[in-house]
Amino acid sequence: MDSNQRRTMGDSLTFLGIESSCDDTAAAIVRHRVGDAAEILSSIVEGQTALHANFGGVVPEIAARAHAERLDHCVERALTEAGLSLAQLDGVAVTAGPGLIGGVLSGVMLAKGLTAATGLPLVGVNHLAGHALTPRLTDQLSFPYLMLLVSGGHCQFLIAHSVDRFERLGGTIDDAPGEAFDKTAKLLGLAQPGGPLVEAEARQGNAKRFAFPRPLLDRAGCDMSFSGLKTALLRARDALIAEQAGLTLQDRRDLCAGFQAAVADVLAEKTRRALATYLAHSPAEPAFAVAGGVAANRLIRARLETVCAENGAAFYAPPLRLCTDNAAMIAWAGIERFRSGGRDDATLSARPRWPLDASAAPLLGSGKKGAKA
Ligand code: KG4
Ligand code: ZN
Repeated sequence: MDSNQRRTMGDSLTFLGIESSCDDTAAAIVRHRVGDAAEILSSIVEGQTALHANFGGVVPEIAARAHAERLDHCVERALTEAGLSLAQLDGVAVTAGPGLIGGVLSGVMLAKGLTAATGLPLVGVNHLAGHALTPRLTDQLSFPYLMLLVSGGHCQFLIAHSVDRFERLGGTIDDAPGEAFDKTAKLLGLAQPGGPLVEAEARQGNAKRFAFPRPLLDRAGCDMSFSGLKTALLRARDALIAEQAGLTLQDRRDLCAGFQAAVADVLAEKTRRALATYLAHSPAEPAFAVAGGVAANRLIRARLETVCAENGAAFYAPPLRLCTDNAAMIAWAGIERFRSGGRDDATLSARPRWPLDASAAPLLGSGKKGAKA
C-alpha cells in the first residue's frame, strides 16, 4: 500500500491546519482515529489586536502583511509543540475563504508550497465550516445539529446536516452582535474589544431604564439586525449628555444593561424559531451548539441554554479558545472533508466570499472584520 492509499483509508489521520482569514494568524496539528475523540496536539494563535488598535477596526493591508510575516513561524511552532515533522503528517488543511483576501491568500500560498514540497494532500476549508464543525471536534456531535455562530464577524443559524451540507436558517442583515458590543463600548468610552467590558458594566446596571428596540422580532424567520440598536444607544447617550452635560457611572451601566438585554432577547427569540425549524427534521439526538466570542457572554449563554432546555435540545458551547478563530478547527474540518473524499490541488483559489449554504439568500453588509458570507 502506498502512502496515499494509507492516508485515504487510514483510521488515524494527523493534519496541519492553517488559518489567516481575519486578524489571527494560526496553525495547529490535530490527530483523529476513527471511533475516538480527536486530539489537538498543538494550537498556536498569534493575534493582531495591537497592530490594529489605532484604526478602529482591522486594516486589511496590515493584516495581510502580518500573516505573511508570521505564518511560517506559526507552522514551525505548531510542529515543534506537537513533536512532529512535516513528514509525519497526513495532510494540510487551509482556510480558503471567506475573509480578507490578502490574509487568505497568504495561507493558501503557504499550504500550496508545503504540499508541493512534501507531496502531502491539500484540503481547502471554508472558515465558517471550521466553526460549524467544531462541536464534532469537541463533543463528537452527530448530524444533524443546530449551530449559532455569533462573534465580531459572524452571526448566523446553520443546520449542519453533513460535513459539506449546511442549511442557513438566517443571519444578521447588518452588524454582527460582537461588532455591536464593540461599537457600544466605543460610544461609552470603554476599551476594545468591548464585549467583556460592556458585560461587566451591565452587571451593575438596570436593564429596564432604557427601552431599546428588539429589531426584526416582528418579522418572521431567523434574520437579525443589530445596527439600529447601536443608533438607539447613541440617541439615548446624547439625550443624557444634552440634559446633564455628561454621563454618570450609573448611566453608563444602565445603557450597557439595556443594550445587552436587547441583544439577548433577540438572540433568544431567534434561537427559539431556529430550533422549531431544526426540530421539524426530527433529529435523533437534538443538539444546539453556540460558537464565537459573544458566546462568552453569561447572560446570552444562560438565555440560550434556557431556550434549549424548554425545547428538549442539548446545549453545547465549545471552550472559548476553540470558538474564536483558531487553526485546530481548520485541521479538524480538513480531516472531516478528507475522510469524505475532499481534496484540492494547486488550482485551489482564495475566496473573499464563500457562503456555506449557496442556496440561501446572500446576507447584506460587511463588518469591520471583512465580508460576511
Ligand atoms: O470570535 P471572536 O473572537 O472573533 C471574531 O469576531 O471572529 O469574537 C470577538 C467578538 C468581539 O466583538 C467581542 O467584543 C465579543 O466577541 N465578545 C463578547 C464577549 N466577549 C467577547 N461580546 C459580549 N460579551 C462578552 N463577554
Ligand atoms: Zn471566525
